[in-house]
Formats: sequence, C-alpha cells, structure tokens
Amino acid sequence: MIDIHCHLLPGIDDGPRDEAEALMLAQALVQDGITHVVCTPHVFPGRYANNRRSIAEAFAAFRRRLLEADIDLGLSFAGEVRLGPEVIALLERDEIPFLGVQSDGRKTMLLELPDGQIPVGADRLVDRLLNHGVRPIIVHPERNRMVMDDPRRMTAFARMGCRMQLTAASLSGHFGPRVQAAARSLLDFGYVHAVATDAHNLGGRKPRMTQARDWLVREYGASKAHQLTSAGPAELAGVAVAQTSAGSL
Ligand SMILES: [Fe+2]
Repeated sequence: MIDIHCHLLPGIDDGPRDEAEALMLAQALVQDGITHVVCTPHVFPGRYANNRRSIAEAFAAFRRRLLEADIDLGLSFAGEVRLGPEVIALLERDEIPFLGVQSDGRKTMLLELPDGQIPVGADRLVDRLLNHGVRPIIVHPERNRMVMDDPRRMTAFARMGCRMQLTAASLSGHFGPRVQAAARSLLDFGYVHAVATDAHNLGGRKPRMTQARDWLVREYGASKAHQLTSAGPAELAGVAVAQTSAGSL
C-alpha cells in the first residue's frame, strides 16, 4: 500500500521528536503493509514554518538514516498545507511542497481545512489554485465538524475538481462514530481518491492502514480497497503502484 500523508520526518512538526522515534515509526509503517510513504510535514505559517526547501533538507537527512538502518520503505516528500490566505504567497514564491504531477499536468497538493469549520472563501482559494494548475487534495474532510454535520458540504469542492483523502483510523471508528459516518458518506458520494495513515507516532496516531483496508474490503469490496489504498494514492503521488503479492492488495 502507498501512504500519501504521514508525519514521519523528525523534529519539524508534531510528528516524531527525533530520529530514533522516526525510525521506529518507519518500521511500524512497513509492518502495516506500506511500501512507499510520502513524508508530509505540516506547512502552517505561524505554527510550523516549513516550506519546500526546509522539508527537502530534512527529507534528505532522514533518507540517509533510513538507508543506514536498512529499512525497506520507499520514500518521497510533500507537505500538508494549511488552508489560509498565505497559500497563494507560498505558491508564488515556489515554496509549496507538491505531492506529484497528474497525467493532465496538474500538480497535486495536500490541503488541510481547520477542524472546526470550512472558512469563508475556501472555495475561492481552491478556485485560484486550480487556475494556477494545482489540484488540491483535501485531507481528512471527515474530521471537520461542519462536514460531520453535513457531508454534502464537500460537494462543491468535489465538483470543482478537488480530490479527497480519508484518514485510515477514521474508517475503523478510531475517531468515533460521527467521523466514521462522515467517512462512509464521502465514500458513498464517490468523492474519495485515497486513504492514508496521517500517522504521527506509535501511540494514539499510529498507522492503521491494514485495519482500514480490511474494513474497506468488508464494506466496499477488494477492488475498491485496492483503489483507495494503492492505485489511487499512487496516481496522486506519481509513484509506481506497489507490486501485488500474496497477502497484499
Ligand atoms: Fe496530517
């Protein structure tokens, strides 16, 4: 499986505090069935002052450590960009850590809404990104309280061309029944293109991708489970689909 959203790089956001913790998280990802992970630190001006260059540096250092530790995990990087007026400035300064390039030439990026609301003007910002050749992937919309109240709030974003990524732990009910119900609605609407771990640590925010895949197989069938945990994320991130082998999808 391919994980397009994970806080694996040490010391630059609320993910692992140091290299040792990050290496343990990398091992946990492998054990959870992940073959390629995209390291996506928060890009949140005022809280986590990361940008494409700073993430690239942290990534290069960590990739060396992963090789030394002989952990067999494909690695690339992007960022989880907080929705706000600063996004356009980041774009103009070429500081957005993009996820990949799609076949239509659009660059993909992870875009995070605040948990509590969908800010006024979010649709205009998305429209500007699309006009700049950028396709936003809205991360974990099922954990947004306005979306929990009414999952149809995501319809406008889906129609504009946004992709959506659910958090694996939402599917298995780890964030509670309301989040799980919202996730199911978004799946039923056909808005979801990927499931990702959004793992931060080995405690409350550990990878739960196998659990999510098993849930998808049970509820939506093996083909949909493969699409959302492997083929879909691979397409969004521009990486090769993982080899299928016995015991994996
Ligand atoms: Fe995240």
